[in-house]
Amino acid sequence: MKNLNDSISPTERTVLRPKLETFDDILPYVGDYGRYQWLLLLALLPFGLTYAFLYFSQFFITITPAEHWCRIDELMNSNFTQADRIKIAIPPSDEYPYYDQCRRKDVNFTELLKAGADLRSLELKRNRTVGCTSWEYNFTEIPYSSVGTELDWVCDQEHFVSTAQSIFFCGSILGGFLIGWIADHKGRIPALIVCNSVALVGSIATANANSFWSFAVCRFLTGLAFDNCIDIPLIIVLEYMSVSKRTVVVNVAFGIYFAVASTILPWMAYYISNWRLFTYVNALPFLSVFITPWILPESARWYISNGKIDKVVEKLRRIAKINKRNPDPRVYDIFLGNLEASAKQRETATVLDLFKTPRLARNTILLILFWCFIVISFDSHVYSLKLIQSSVFVSFSLSCFTELPAGLLLTLLLDRWGRRLCGFLTLAITCVLSIAELMFHSIPVKLTMSVMSRFCLNMAANIGLQYAAELLPTPVRSQGVSLIHIFGIIAHTLAPYIIVLATVWEGFPMLIIGIVSFAGAALVTFLPETLGQCLPHTISQGEEFGRDQNFWSLPCYKSRNLTGIANLMNDNRPCTRVLMKNANKEDGDQQ
Ligand SMILES: *[C@@H]1O[C@H](CO)[C@@H](O)[C@H](O)[C@H]1NC(C)=O
Ligand SMILES: *[C@@H]1O[C@H](CO)[C@@H](O)[C@H](O)[C@H]1NC(C)=O
Ligand SMILES: *[C@@H]1O[C@H](CO)[C@@H](O)[C@H](O)[C@H]1NC(C)=O
Ligand SMILES: *[C@@H]1O[C@H](CO)[C@@H](O)[C@H](O)[C@H]1NC(C)=O
Repeated sequence: MKNLNDSISPTERTVLRPKLETFDDILPYVGDYGRYQWLLLLALLPFGLTYAFLYFSQFFITITPAEHWCRIDELMNSNFTQADRIKIAIPPSDEYPYYDQCRRKDVNFTELLKAGADLRSLELKRNRTVGCTSWEYNFTEIPYSSVGTELDWVCDQEHFVSTAQSIFFCGSILGGFLIGWIADHKGRIPALIVCNSVALVGSIATANANSFWSFAVCRFLTGLAFDNCIDIPLIIVLEYMSVSKRTVVVNVAFGIYFAVASTILPWMAYYISNWRLFTYVNALPFLSVFITPWILPESARWYISNGKIDKVVEKLRRIAKINKRNPDPRVYDIFLGNLEASAKQRETATVLDLFKTPRLARNTILLILFWCFIVISFDSHVYSLKLIQSSVFVSFSLSCFTELPAGLLLTLLLDRWGRRLCGFLTLAITCVLSIAELMFHSIPVKLTMSVMSRFCLNMAANIGLQYAAELLPTPVRSQGVSLIHIFGIIAHTLAPYIIVLATVWEGFPMLIIGIVSFAGAALVTFLPETLGQCLPHTISQGEEFGRDQNFWSLPCYKSRNLTGIANLMNDNRPCTRVLMKNANKEDGDQQ
């Protein structure tokens, strides 16, 4: 290394050397926004699809129509219509659907039919009712039989729908640890392949499940891939992308791939009209496991932290070739030299450091709660769509469609109004809309409120991601974000049960969304604003961060535009760099 450095003129060295400390520094030399990056964006497509399908498909696999009633075998053979059967055998009720969904009149219909009674005109006024043993469903709104209707997950078995969903997220908790371990020890690509293969097998097996427990086991396996299936590819693509274009990656992945996939998902369920076939179709994007190593590169950061530096250079040369760049070959050597030097002086920190000092601990806990509240509101909102008496396919599709406009509006507002105000407003508006939804009984009004609150929740979710990535100090940033993520998944496992409360009182889920989003809005006001601030680069800066901020102060200037997970990649703000340079006793720089 020394020889090579000496052979470069002093001016070149000062120009090149400080700029080649990290992977982000060398990337522009081989092209950081060229053909290679466009291919990577395209390669994200199957992973965006898997994420949307994993997140939402179970909703359509298990959905049961609200209009269900006891199936009475004696009446099925005669040519009664569904309406006749309900009129004859099912006790009426005051609430929608105006008949009892779980009980039937206790009458021996075999006897009556044998006696030749005209059941249609006979008014059976029986006080005694018995519980159903099997059910009939009105398949007009939801034109297919789901696993929920096949196995009669209604009435006292209704919680199976939520439990199965919860078990899916339990799978993703295990996946988080298991796949995380593989990702650290064997590499990101092997981890991605393992989790997607398990999920491929899991979803194919799901289509063949025929009992609650076999279904639950299959969903647990499929759940292993949840989040990992998009997190790993996203982090890899962000690494290889120009710092200033990382917002584009996040917007393409979520605003386009995820939004489009989840918008068309209900219509796939509707037109396929067969839950087993639908499950097979949902497994298709998982087939990307067979081409993953050829469409995504291994993470450069992983190579670097595992000492496989020659692989990084190999990769860089390939990128240069694809982007048709011809960088000075010496940049590679200087980069290698700097890497070896900087590897020695890395600050080591563990996730426990987040809790050792009071302010940082408080912020971490607030961030965890904030994220959990967002997840609970978001998921409950998704599941609550089936409570509105309108086509669930239309309402689901409309809600998912708000993803892209919400993302775009947020990019505009987040850097003008700040994270704190945006976080507060989106959740406060969600709270107001949810409570309003309780008050109105007109279905179009409910639907409008619902779509609008999903719009706000989409923005809140993006803010939650961004906030964590900015507020946690660099040495523990990715560990801290993972910790928040794990709590988020625990919140995912709780949310399905909120919808079960609708059996107690129809308005419960909306009330809970209102309360939880209010709590989230209140919490976020206690977090320090990160807009326009230098991001905390050390644990102690993280502790001091925002100490000088007034509770009522609002940011009034514009800073650079970066969104969401893009900041996970850290070190990308000008002022962070200034701090870093100062720490290295080098001169300050631009801005
Ligand atoms: C079916 O219903 C029609 C009229 O609704 C009636 O004429 C016919 O006899 C019924 N058939 C049987 C098998 O009950
Ligand atoms: C089934 O649902 C459709 C549409 O909601 C409705 O028109 C029909 O009357 C329902 N059938 C019964 C038997 O309730
Ligand atoms: C209904 O009546 C039929 C004939 O009278 C009888 O065979 C059958 O056991 C009765 N069913 C029940 C459940 O009581
Ligand atoms: C129904 O129950 C009420 C009181 O519980 C009783 O007065 C009435 O006689 C019952 N009717 C029949 C048909 O059993």
